[in-house]
Amino acid sequence: MTTGRKGIILAGGSGTRLWPITMGVSKQLLPVYDKPMVYYPLTALMLGGMREIAVITTPEDQPAFLRLLGDGSQWGLSLTYIVQPSPDGLAQAYLLARDFLDGAPSAMVLGDNIFFGHGLTEMLQIADRRDGGTVFGYHVADPERYGVVDFDDQGRVKAIVEKPARPPSNFAVTGLYYLDGEAPDRAAQIRPSPRGELEIVDLLETYRAEGRLQVERMGRGYAWLDTGTHGSLLDAGNFVRTLEERQGLQIGSPDEIAFQNGWITAEALAARAAKFGKNGYGAYLKSRLKEMS
Ligand code: TTP
Repeated sequence: MTTGRKGIILAGGSGTRLWPITMGVSKQLLPVYDKPMVYYPLTALMLGGMREIAVITTPEDQPAFLRLLGDGSQWGLSLTYIVQPSPDGLAQAYLLARDFLDGAPSAMVLGDNIFFGHGLTEMLQIADRRDGGTVFGYHVADPERYGVVDFDDQGRVKAIVEKPARPPSNFAVTGLYYLDGEAPDRAAQIRPSPRGELEIVDLLETYRAEGRLQVERMGRGYAWLDTGTHGSLLDAGNFVRTLEERQGLQIGSPDEIAFQNGWITAEALAARAAKFGKNGYGAYLKSRLKEMS
């Protein structure tokens, strides 16, 4: 399936928690087991049916992303590259992507977030059909590290609170935001927070205040991992390895998903497999092609 919604991958930031590693390379290019981190959020958008995707990076890292992902045509995508001169907050992405979006609704994913679980595609399709905004709440052990959802008695969203000392619930807002075409205009109205960033929670609040924000609960059958610390990066890698070795199926392969979505032909997938020669990824693509054709 393909949607008119456009995708944004926010892959800038400074990655200070991973210093010194990220002093020389973007966090989102680091390996999560057998793939560059950015493949995982990229494939989440592809599962959501998005083919027009903007990749927002720091000015220094843009050439490396371009080397890795190219123009996206190998996956039937059209990739646009946008620079974020300094990491001034997640909501700034909508200002930077205004021309790219050109009034279209969007799904923005953070470049260091990994989503996995049965039914993910269907969940994204439901969000795609909704007006206003949709975000995903996920039960975590340490909500104080995230934006947290405060629900009222009816289960409606009362507020989203950024990194609260006393979290009103265990539901963190994940790094995947479905917003309508008004997001750039709304982002232009919000002011920087005390920490100097345009906060995504402030942008979401403009929708919530009008009753136009849905929080979809992502059940316990899903995995939502972020990879911003040394421990969580290693955990994510181990998670991917465990599943891939058990199933013989890969998480986050853009080649496989592009083929599954009908965005590239069997010949194109075979050519991609050949490009990777005898390495494990090439062999994997070859075996999937055989099974899926
Ligand atoms: P964070 O993990 O909050 O920030 P960071 O990546 O700069 O890392 P650290 O806290 O260790 O310094 O960012 C979440 C994601 O959003 C990550 O993929 C980077 C991206 N990001 C941007 O692209 N631009 C921004 O202005 C911010 C704040 C984050």
